[in-house]
Amino acid sequence: MAELTRVSKNRTIWWENDTAILIDQTLLPGTYREISIRTVEEMWEAIRMLRVRGAPAIGVATAYGVYLGLQGRTYSDSKAVIERVNEVADYLATCRPTAVNLFWALSRMREAAEAHASLSPTDLCARLLEEAHIILQEDNETCRAIGRFGAELIQDGMTVLTHCNAGGLATACYGTGLAPLFSAHESGKRFHVYADETRPLLQGARLTTWELRQHRIPVTLICDNMAAHCMKAGRIQLVLVGADRIASNGDTANKIGTYSVALAAQAHKIPFYIAAPRSTIDRSIPSGNEIPIEERDPREVVSFGGILTAPEGIAVYNPAFDVTPADLIAGIVTEVGILRPPYKESILWAFSRTPA
Ligand code: MRU
Repeated sequence: MAELTRVSKNRTIWWENDTAILIDQTLLPGTYREISIRTVEEMWEAIRMLRVRGAPAIGVATAYGVYLGLQGRTYSDSKAVIERVNEVADYLATCRPTAVNLFWALSRMREAAEAHASLSPTDLCARLLEEAHIILQEDNETCRAIGRFGAELIQDGMTVLTHCNAGGLATACYGTGLAPLFSAHESGKRFHVYADETRPLLQGARLTTWELRQHRIPVTLICDNMAAHCMKAGRIQLVLVGADRIASNGDTANKIGTYSVALAAQAHKIPFYIAAPRSTIDRSIPSGNEIPIEERDPREVVSFGGILTAPEGIAVYNPAFDVTPADLIAGIVTEVGILRPPYKESILWAFSRTPA
């Protein structure tokens, strides 16, 4: 088991000595390894293979990826830098399709390049690195605010179910879906967490339980197919998960299996909440029907850790995300407050606010 002290740094991605450093999440919880990402190709691979994962962390990684793609070249003028930014951004856009934070971060980097076109090539590149640092810093502040707003949902003695990993590992540092739990715990509330294991890549089993243990929050691991049973048995009072993309009407894409959890929660009258930053809200799409759902390698379903868990050659369908309709969602915890239905109105309100 990786040592507790290794996460005392409490960060998932950071910049050091001209490289982006990531915790390789594919190796957790058995091995804690920091990897140096020096090129945009390495960043593409790290995102694609889920070494860095979770919508906000993907956004931060993407921003650094753009900067890395500018390195090792000479530019005659700032126009050449902007052309390269667009080329690198188009390439990074092919990594993963569902988490909108990836595209949001690319837009931020493209816009920053355009806005500073009057700088020299060297200064423009430096400004783009600064933009990536700002995105990381904003992520930290945003997650803390989500934690503060969401903590009011957590009562002493309750049990909260979560799915996948929306903790510090899924952001630069503090998490979204788990942020209210961290915040409530810091303020002295005592509660219990059930973590769905989250097939096929086990982000709940490998990452959420690991993180909650670092924070000394009591956690019980269950298989995905046990959630409804636990709800029926009265073991769960609240569901709190993250998001990869939220449409204008509140429909929310998150890790595959989230929709089933939301349906079960509705059947048992248990409030189901999303926690996500505004950068996860895609106002360009009216509903969840327009959210692209990533399909991943069938090998993720028929094997784990290199061991075959199904007959060789069996047909596999492996969507990585599903969409929970807005009418199953009691609220969306953001950095400006908890949004309530109807989400079309509350999302508009959220974008009119400045975080405190
Ligand atoms: O495939 P992953 O591990 O990147 O999926 C992550 C999730 O679905 C998370 O719940 C979501 O990104 C929210 S992370 C704060």
